[in-house]
Amino acid sequence: MLENKKFFIKTHGCQMNEYDSDKLTDVLRVNLKMVETKNPGSADLLLLNTCSIREKAQEKVFHQLGRWKKLKDKKPGMLIAVGGCVASQEGKSIRSRAPSVDIIFGPQTIHRIPKMIKDLYTFDLKSAVDISFPEIEKFDYLPISDKKAPSAYISIMEGCSKYCTFCVVPYTRGEEFNRGFDDIINEAMKLSSQGAREIILLGQNVNAYKSIDHNGNPVSLSDLIRYISHIDGIERIRYTTSHPIDFSQDLINEYNNNKLANNLHLPIQSGSDLILSKMKRKHTVLEYKSIIKKVRNIRPDIHLSSDFIIGYPGESDYEFQKTLDFIEELNFSDAYSFIYSPRPGTPAAQEMDYISDTIKSDRLKELKDLIKHQSNCYSEKMLGKTEKVLVEGLSRKRNNEVFGRTDNNKVINFPGNEELISKLVDVRIDEIRANTLHGTCLNIK
Ligand code: SAH
Ligand code: F3S
Repeated sequence: MLENKKFFIKTHGCQMNEYDSDKLTDVLRVNLKMVETKNPGSADLLLLNTCSIREKAQEKVFHQLGRWKKLKDKKPGMLIAVGGCVASQEGKSIRSRAPSVDIIFGPQTIHRIPKMIKDLYTFDLKSAVDISFPEIEKFDYLPISDKKAPSAYISIMEGCSKYCTFCVVPYTRGEEFNRGFDDIINEAMKLSSQGAREIILLGQNVNAYKSIDHNGNPVSLSDLIRYISHIDGIERIRYTTSHPIDFSQDLINEYNNNKLANNLHLPIQSGSDLILSKMKRKHTVLEYKSIIKKVRNIRPDIHLSSDFIIGYPGESDYEFQKTLDFIEELNFSDAYSFIYSPRPGTPAAQEMDYISDTIKSDRLKELKDLIKHQSNCYSEKMLGKTEKVLVEGLSRKRNNEVFGRTDNNKVINFPGNEELISKLVDVRIDEIRANTLHGTCLNIK
């Protein structure tokens, strides 16, 4: 058995996967008393938490498994487990390309790993596979984390029921499932008592969150934000990701709460109504603009970021220009942009794609240049100003420096030592260096 032995985890993809890997660590620590190692060669169990959002992400999985096979050949008895969205999508067929894999689990079955390991040994199985969606179980069976971090994630919902035509998430993570309101508040209180100053509420569509409180009253994301902002020690709240169609007036009003961070990441994908309707995003460009206008009425200086897909089937030069015009008009502080990648099993994968690779990469570059320019303008406006920064750790590059994030989610480095970690400090912004800001700490709050 693997009790008291070592495991190594590698995580690909989004914050949801980062969160799941943290939970996997808790499960192995609490149930099997296993210890995490940073050296894969010395591990008895190697775990890969995978991403399948785009083809490139998926290919990375088999390259990694090829490297791990060599380690396993040198160390008989070593187990390899693959989880996450590629595991969920491919199931046991992963073993036909990578026979060295022993365990295949999905985003909703991480709590079942100890049982799967036990089954392998007890029944002398070649492999154990469980990629089912018992969501209700997952939240109930995960041990509470003992992680001490200034900024902590809490998953508030799982999966997605929006079925945008290009996206694999509803198939790999299952339909939307909301976690209990009181459970979330309890976890926030626990994290705060362990030193968290910032809570990031996590899910594919957090603003679709709906539940009931202990009195049976209906509650939404804005209620969660309000309750958590009253917990002692919690100074800042963020949430990610949200969707325009669930952006209710009560969430907009919550921007009057100064503990809600001053940035909004709201994916739109395209600035063309034709493409949005082809993607089945279920909203128009005007509806998106109207949300931003209302939020900016309350927070005129909010930093706005988004996701864009370039080269979706049917995107003509005209439609792409609409996206650029839209970006010009709205002014983004940051964005993630991707070339469309057809995903097996999604409706969009059936559509003919006539756009050449050169056009796609030229469009991507043009869009990225525009965003970069807007992002620099946002940073320049911050020069000379003083911002509240939550210090997250020692700088990775320089001795005697720490790093943290401003309220509007910009990374900043400045001189300081570990005593500043977990503190909210006032920092004057002095300089923009490559992608980060640099400043001077003025006081400790
Ligand atoms: N829940 C989020 C998105 C989650 S996926 C939402 O509301 O939009 C993260 C991002 O990956 C998406 O916003 C999209 O921009 C990108 N993405 C998803 N599927 C993709 C695909 N097939 N090709 C390229 N980019 C994709
Ligand atoms: Fe994917 Fe659309 Fe949901 S992008 S995660 S199906 S909102």
